[in-house]
Amino acid sequence: MEEIGLFYGSDTGVTDDVTKDFVNFWGDDNINVMLIGSASVEDFKNYDKLILGLPTWYDGILQSDWEDFFDEFSTIDFTNKTVAIYGLGDQIGYGEYFVDGIGILAKVIIENGGKVIGNWPNKGYRHTDSVAIMEENTELFYGLAIDHDNESQLTDERLKTWIEQIKKEF
Ligand SMILES: Cc1cc2nc3c(=O)[nH]c(=O)nc-3n(C[C@H](O)[C@H](O)[C@H](O)COP(=O)(O)O)c2cc1C
Repeated sequence: MEEIGLFYGSDTGVTDDVTKDFVNFWGDDNINVMLIGSASVEDFKNYDKLILGLPTWYDGILQSDWEDFFDEFSTIDFTNKTVAIYGLGDQIGYGEYFVDGIGILAKVIIENGGKVIGNWPNKGYRHTDSVAIMEENTELFYGLAIDHDNESQLTDERLKTWIEQIKKEF
């Protein structure tokens, strides 16, 4: 089975925990998990299938390690690469910037020739705006939105449903 690279970052540990659950639910051992804080552009070249995880911080800013890596990330050629993104956020406290990080990364990937899979319905979330809303279909986010701050009871189910979806789409 083709190897998949999972790159993620976390400031206060929630995305760490969610990523561990993600890997458990994924089940197969074809995922290599790396912290984006220790990753390089070269690491991305090893994979045609990628999963990226990040929370959004400070009114629509990428998690700190993603923010530090962003200029290098923007140089990656995503031609022939398929990418799924999961983002954490708080739709009540930061409803105007909910999971913006998903959209910030997705736009670079698309601009640089890649394909973003795992688009996720935004119905039912209580955000007022988000960079993660797809330009071509405003009923979808570019990736999976997880609000572990307000809806932790939904996180496992969201992960499991999304995993089924992206396994088909990869
Ligand atoms: C100061 C602060 C700013 C935040 N800004 C945003 C934001 O702009 N958009 C959003 O969706 N969530 C925002 N959040 C919520 C975090 O993304 C959420 O708590 C996340 O689970 C943190 O993940 P981590 O522990 O992996 O860093 C913010 C939280 C804090 C405490």
